Amino acid sequence: MVMMNNDYNMIKLAEVDSTNEYAKKIAKAGAKHFTVVIAEKQSAGKGRLGRRFLSHAGTGIFMSIVLRPDIEPEMASRLTLVAAVAVRRVLNNICQLETAIKWPNDLVSDGKKVCGILTEMSTEMGRVKYVILGVGINVSNESFEDELSDVATSILMLTGKRYDKETIIEAVLKEFLLYYEKFLITGDLSCIKREYDSCLVNKDKMVKIINGNTVLQGICRGVGNAGELLVETEKGMEKIISGEVSVRGVYGYV
Ligand code: BTN
Repeated sequence: MVMMNNDYNMIKLAEVDSTNEYAKKIAKAGAKHFTVVIAEKQSAGKGRLGRRFLSHAGTGIFMSIVLRPDIEPEMASRLTLVAAVAVRRVLNNICQLETAIKWPNDLVSDGKKVCGILTEMSTEMGRVKYVILGVGINVSNESFEDELSDVATSILMLTGKRYDKETIIEAVLKEFLLYYEKFLITGDLSCIKREYDSCLVNKDKMVKIINGNTVLQGICRGVGNAGELLVETEKGMEKIISGEVSVRGVYGYV
């Protein structure tokens, strides 16, 4: 089903493998800027670093937005951080839920993930052709099984309340659009850096950066304007680029 709004077109699906994959297909076929794909259920929801994102029917918000910003490819991953700040605000405003950001893309509360963001892009001639911004929010899961129970949580588990998904979706789109427009003015994160740093879960704490077999340890000092994580090590300040790296608090998930 396709719905129109002044700001965006919305495609609602009962089930899909991944809304990011679906959004990529329609973007390749010419879908307009700010086309939003929402599914009730994903059979192969994807997370960063090849992980999966649990997406059972009715439990969460599984949403991808097709964006067509006129930016250079290295700027696209910054949109993950922009979206994290926007979703955090919405959870705070609508659900009175305080979350922190685990760089670059997770919103956590009570030491567990409640929202994940996955940004993918396609380029042509050194420019961005489209960006797919995928947002997954655990809304009404009553519990998580096995190893997920240590790392995942939901709005219901955190607040004890059931929230209307449509209300959250509308608010996320509105809030993201505001931040997105600010971001495009400079193309860097100067517009959100202060807010992002203030809710960065590991700020001024010891972190481990895991990159394949390499582990770097230091104190997290916030993000730079390009979205890189600044980590103070014995050798000086290291800039960690959001790629194939995983950040861990020295103890536990965050
Ligand atoms: C992560 O946890 O590393 C990111 C999770 C992103 C999940 C969302 S759900 C909607 C969209 N479709 C996907 O397959 N992934 C994203």
